[in-house]
Amino acid sequence: MLKDKKISIIGTGNMGEALVSGLVSSEPSMPKNIICTDIREDKIELVQEKYGVGTTKDNIEAVEASDVVIYAVKPQIIALVLKETAQALDMSKLIISIAAGVPLAAIESCLKKDLRLIRVMPNIAAFVKESASVLAAGKNATQDDIKLSMAIFDSMGKTIFIKENILMDAITGLSGSGPAYIFLIVDALADAGVKVGLSREDALFLSIQTVLGAAKLLMETKEHPGRLKDMVTSPGGTAIAGIHTLEKGGLRTTLINAVEVATERSKQLGEIMMKNFSNE
Ligand SMILES: NC(=O)c1ccc[n+]([C@@H]2O[C@H](COP(=O)([O-])OP(=O)(O)OC[C@H]3O[C@@H](n4cnc5c(N)ncnc54)[C@H](OP(=O)(O)O)[C@@H]3O)[C@@H](O)[C@H]2O)c1
Repeated sequence: MLKDKKISIIGTGNMGEALVSGLVSSEPSMPKNIICTDIREDKIELVQEKYGVGTTKDNIEAVEASDVVIYAVKPQIIALVLKETAQALDMSKLIISIAAGVPLAAIESCLKKDLRLIRVMPNIAAFVKESASVLAAGKNATQDDIKLSMAIFDSMGKTIFIKENILMDAITGLSGSGPAYIFLIVDALADAGVKVGLSREDALFLSIQTVLGAAKLLMETKEHPGRLKDMVTSPGGTAIAGIHTLEKGGLRTTLINAVEVATERSKQLGEIMMKNFSNE
């Protein structure tokens, strides 16, 4: 299914390149079906040389030649780019936006026509093909559109579909912003290692590998985190002493508060975006 589709990526920056890299490695015949655009010559030259994909600086030309159009430009300019390409958009194409904080309703109000729309919230781990991406569909998107979009974003990590597009703010607060929380935790663990006498280099390596190993164990065993925690806490041992201190410091409450406040902030930014889009 995926290999029969012409896909254009409008804006080939960090995320656009991560998408190209994922798609090209998922299917050998992909490069001939991908067209990337960017306003910067160096960006499109890079993806052409590195991945063998088609490129153009003309967004309209790319949209016209595609079955699937992925908008990967910054949220601040997506309204302009949507308007620029609107003449080439119709119900024959699947339109995907990955712009953070831009609700589907904002895109609909900007384009003012019936379109098959999908919104995706990936995260920065897309660069290592480990994105936690979440997909929500507009009212005209079909089951096949959802399947196709899942296949596209599975090429750069793991993807889930949510029926309630309204939950996108919560997703932004959890998996969209989540890598930043984990970077902070890893940095703090490395500081802790230095405090108890390890070199900075060893402490950082051990912190990263511990987070990676714990995540892999959870993913592969599918055990509940509470059960795995029970397995590593022996009576009167070291891990339970550490956990007691984390609980006293309010780690669980702090993380819940962080996700809640980030969700609220995403909602506020979405409302500002809605106003800006209807004024464009
Ligand atoms: N990075 C993340 O971790 C992440 C996570 C989730 C969602 N997202 C979303 O993904 C989207 C892309 O983010 P990014 O980090 O990849 O941004 P980025 O690196 O700035 O990529 C956007 C690219 O689009 C180019 N561009 C600007 N105007 C254009 C136009 N009119 N036509 C075509 N290309 C144009 C930019 O060129 P210039 O640099 O010259 O402006 C840049 O190369 C954003 O909407 C963001 O919210 C990103």
